[in-house]
Amino acid sequence: MRSAKDFFRPLAVGAPAPVREVPFRPSRMIHFFDPGNEKMAAKVPTLAPQVDVLLGNLEDAVQADRKVAAREGLVAVAKANDFGDTQLWTRINSLDSPWALDDLLTLVTEIGDRLDVIMVPKVEGAADIHYVDRLLAQLEAKAHVERPILVHAILETATGVANVEEIAGASPRMQGLSLGPADLAASRRMKTTRVGGGHPGYLVREDPTTEGAPRATYQQDLWHYTIARMVDACAAHGILPYYGPFGDIQDVTACEDQFRNAFLLGCVGAWSLHPVQIAVAKRVFSPAPEDVAWARRVIDAMGDGTGAVMIDGKMQDDATYKQCLVVSELAADLAARDPELADAYAAAEKEGNA
Ligand code: GLV
Ligand code: MG
Repeated sequence: MRSAKDFFRPLAVGAPAPVREVPFRPSRMIHFFDPGNEKMAAKVPTLAPQVDVLLGNLEDAVQADRKVAAREGLVAVAKANDFGDTQLWTRINSLDSPWALDDLLTLVTEIGDRLDVIMVPKVEGAADIHYVDRLLAQLEAKAHVERPILVHAILETATGVANVEEIAGASPRMQGLSLGPADLAASRRMKTTRVGGGHPGYLVREDPTTEGAPRATYQQDLWHYTIARMVDACAAHGILPYYGPFGDIQDVTACEDQFRNAFLLGCVGAWSLHPVQIAVAKRVFSPAPEDVAWARRVIDAMGDGTGAVMIDGKMQDDATYKQCLVVSELAADLAARDPELADAYAAAEKEGNA
């Protein structure tokens, strides 16, 4: 085991020092694009200002004979564009594929100073993160990258879920985790054929009442357990949890429900696979103006945060104060990047104080 004292030492001579805290940057939607697709790559300049994170995808959904084109396309896109304060991420191929090593070698050497986060799919345990961690340090040193590239793992195998805590704490580079419901379903041998969301067969049924009367059924959330486990692992290690993809692009209502469940449970964002999902993620992962106004009212009334007060008949104490700080601080971070949201929060607070 490495000594705790060495945990924050660079893993290669000349590599940048690891971060001590994951910098919180708005990442309500991680918008996926295929950098090998010229039409999509051409849209990057207009897309970048609309999203918090733009992710060049090299893994699943890119055909085997397009892998090199996608990698080279991402290098070209990164070199040709100024992303402002939008983050640039990539999803490399999985570590058991023939492409992952070349993905890392090329991307870090060519555009290491432009990449904020590398998403690693199908992570099964801390050993996968340690492999990437050392390799990134060597490549950063070689390419003179001045700030460490962070790592994001997709939770999408049964083994990965079993090892989620050790994955979250495997390196100071760990930025966050995303739920990957499609691969996870296959890995667990679930009997679904979808990318995220619910299933009408996964339900509970009301008890029988009178003879023959119809009994209501209620669909249950297939992902509740995994999201909650992922959120706890992330919170314990100071990294950020995300819901992943929602594959039924036309069903924006169910997409919004799935995203909102994740938001309420602690996630900070989700993937967007199509431009219609950008607005959904923005709406869901930005606290509602009335909730922010309420949180700020509680914070003001609680003074130093100790004791108890009643507001509109509801008891407030240290614990509700802390919840309100979470909402208020998230709102402040998002408003700093999103002027429309800043105006909505200011208007709701004014109304609340009137
Ligand atoms: C994402 O990669 C998933 O498998 O759901
Ligand atoms: Mg997957």
